[in-house]
Amino acid sequence: MRRALLTTALLAALAAPAAAQATLDWSEAEIRLVGQHGPWPPPPARDPSNRVSATPVGIVLGEHLFSDARLSGDGLVSCATCHQEGRDWSDGRALGKGRADLDRRTPSLWNVGYSHWFGWSGAADSLWAHTIKPILDAREMAGSSARVARLLREDKELACGYERAFGRKPDGDDEQMLVNAAKALAAFQATLVSPRTRFDDFRDALMAGDREAAARYGQSEQRGLKLFIGEANCNACHFGPRFTNGEFGDIGIGFFVRPGEVDAGRLGGIAALADSPFNLLGRYNDDASGANARRTRHVRRLHSNFGEFRVPGLRQVGRSAAYMHNGSLATVEDVVRHYSEVSPDRLHSDGTPLVRALGLSAGQSSDLVAFLRSLDAAPPPRPSPPPLCP
Ligand code: HEC
Ligand code: HEC
Repeated sequence: MRRALLTTALLAALAAPAAAQATLDWSEAEIRLVGQHGPWPPPPARDPSNRVSATPVGIVLGEHLFSDARLSGDGLVSCATCHQEGRDWSDGRALGKGRADLDRRTPSLWNVGYSHWFGWSGAADSLWAHTIKPILDAREMAGSSARVARLLREDKELACGYERAFGRKPDGDDEQMLVNAAKALAAFQATLVSPRTRFDDFRDALMAGDREAAARYGQSEQRGLKLFIGEANCNACHFGPRFTNGEFGDIGIGFFVRPGEVDAGRLGGIAALADSPFNLLGRYNDDASGANARRTRHVRRLHSNFGEFRVPGLRQVGRSAAYMHNGSLATVEDVVRHYSEVSPDRLHSDGTPLVRALGLSAGQSSDLVAFLRSLDAAPPPRPSPPPLCP
């Protein structure tokens, strides 16, 4: 038995180099397209609208607040209830659940600091502004500015952490305290950068012309990548190092929440953004030049925004099922089947659709899945946060 195992292992080892040597042929144009999905990791995100962005003291305060259920109305729900570290900062559920059931899936927070629109419909234009929403939403944490302000003033540790982060005692009005708590929370979230993956090693090897290193990437993964940037045109939307252009698209996912009620997607998001006192045109934007409010100032409601949702980044995608804004697809295989079979009648946008039924063969589908899974990597364990006031 032992000998048989050994022989099998030996044969496998002997066969491996030959199989592993193979790199597919990559044209100059393809290499350029692959190169656009890196390098990884990008430089740390810095948000000029947030005075404590990228500051160690702001990040520490935010990390403590992230798992503090006292921010919620009943003291039972924290950000970490739904965005769990052990589940890639999501919750493993099809639809979010706080004090009540939600209509959308909890997205992972990996790489969220590099976005410019937040939430599935882009209802916020900064990470801190989005962060205010779950604190106040009755279905999520059902907190209030008064409650957050009281916590920051009365808890000695938090008050001390606040003073270190903002350079003054927690003595602003309640709304200012809520905004600053959100800014610290945003500073922490922006540090959640996903680890390098097998794809990144391949991309860097390909760019450097190192065929030997490139050949460590599986052939099926390479074929899937070729489809992704070629025939299947996935990178029309899933573009750049995070595999998203940060904008919105319609890929024919249903928008009925329940009979008679729809999630209008981006169309609703633009309305909510315009109404928010916390958008970048408001008084809490720390960028005095206002340059970072350009996108918000120019956003226009178009009929075609109905049924559009934000293009999700694809790093760690295999690790945080379910998929889509409404969690309607359970596995990566289901997602690939959707793109293979989607009916044109399900697309609502006007103009030339970027999505059409691809009619993939079984082999092509499994190549695309293999490629998507090569964007996953186990994150290193996180040390517990340093104390607020050492
Ligand atoms: C009850 C579950 C729940 C809780 C609690 C919760 N979230 Fe979320 N989170 C969600 C859901 C669902 C969405 C998608 C919301 C949408 O698109 O409207 C989301 C979206 C987000 C996003 C947008 C991500 C992106 O890619 O655009 C951020 C950032 C975020 N949450 C941070 C937080 C923070 C910080 C807290 C704590 C203050 C928090 N969340 C509390 C469920 C939750
Ligand atoms: C027109 C732009 C567009 C194109 C082209 C496109 N996608 Fe998407 N993709 C999206 C949008 C938008 C969503 C989210 C839709 C929703 O939630 O309703 C999405 C969702 C996904 C998801 C689910 C991610 C998650 O976290 O829920 C995966 C995986 C994915 N796309 C892979 C692909 C692949 C593979 C291709 C090529 C076959 C592709 N996409 C082509 C826009 C696009």
